[in-house]
Amino acid sequence: MLIEEHKSLKPFNTFGIDCKARYFASVTSVTKLKELLSQNIHPSRFILGGGSNLLLTQDVDALVIHVNLRGISILSEENGQVILEVNAGENWHEFVMHCIENGYGGVENLSLIPGNIGTAPIQNIGAYGVELKDVFVNCKALEIESLEERTFDHSECEFGYRDSIFKNEAKGKYIITSVTLRLTTQDHTLSTSYGAIKTQLEKQGVTTPTIKDISDAVITIRKSKLPDPAEIGNSGSFFKNPVIGSDDFQQFRLSYPNAPFYEVSPTEFKIPAGWLIEQAGFKGQRFGDAGVHKNQALVLVNHGNASGSELWELALKIQKKVKEDFGIYIEPEVNVI
Ligand code: EPU
Repeated sequence: MLIEEHKSLKPFNTFGIDCKARYFASVTSVTKLKELLSQNIHPSRFILGGGSNLLLTQDVDALVIHVNLRGISILSEENGQVILEVNAGENWHEFVMHCIENGYGGVENLSLIPGNIGTAPIQNIGAYGVELKDVFVNCKALEIESLEERTFDHSECEFGYRDSIFKNEAKGKYIITSVTLRLTTQDHTLSTSYGAIKTQLEKQGVTTPTIKDISDAVITIRKSKLPDPAEIGNSGSFFKNPVIGSDDFQQFRLSYPNAPFYEVSPTEFKIPAGWLIEQAGFKGQRFGDAGVHKNQALVLVNHGNASGSELWELALKIQKKVKEDFGIYIEPEVNVI
């Protein structure tokens, strides 16, 4: 297996940051993954998926393992449902397109999300009213220390908003090798209640949408708001939308009666961080090559040669100003290394 030294990670992170890996190996099978982990190349290992939720602020002094396991298999297909096992290195959006072409429903709202299948459960990716947990059956993972393979079923993953066990107790301990999903082959349950989807479908002149219509609508919405990482470095939403309690929310509403919000539960309210950041004056701002996207303030962008530290400094500046202006703490969604 090829093990490279001082390898640039620029092509492997969607921010396009030019940090280096002390050692780097790309693995294409679970056997090779076990073989690699059993060698003593470096005491630290860093697991790299699609690199779409990652801000590198320094070189990575570790063995960087690029999980490049490919392949999609049908485990069963009956009664209008298909169960698919997808290997971790498959690109998420290409997988969604595969589903649309084959008439598998359930992931169309998650079109155009960057990253790979294997990292999707870690932060329970979600968009336009659907989250990965809605179609998730289980995932296989390799325990790094013991090299034992195990399966995490739905409840064991402890999914939450942009959250799972892999961000908490299981953090850094496992490598997800495949994800199994349950999709529909007929009588799809469509999720079109999200305002922007409704509006876009109306624009498309669609009254009885297919999964392809919804996917097309989501792709159009995302392209209009979110920068394409192939053109301008970014990692999607940089911050999570903060959730505040009833008392804080009442106070907030009094000061900002027109602010958008979603009721998570009778005692929890989610405020769009993009709105807070825009109100704090950062939308479209640029500090050298580090900037805030002009159409969606939740997205930080690399206009060319920003370093990870410059982007992180900007993130901290935004966090501080939002706290000062609104008394609300916004937490990064990306992994900062
Ligand atoms: N808003 C602003 N200014 C902005 C951005 C947003 O005022 O610059 C307001 C909008 O007008 C709207 C509200 O904030 O009233 C919500 O905006 P949007 O529908 O764009 O969604 P979001 O809450 O900002 C979340 C996800 C996105 C996902 C969209 C659609 C998080 C952290 N982000 O964004 O996910 O695509 O909903 O479901 O939950 C990602 O995770 O990378 C991502 C793009």
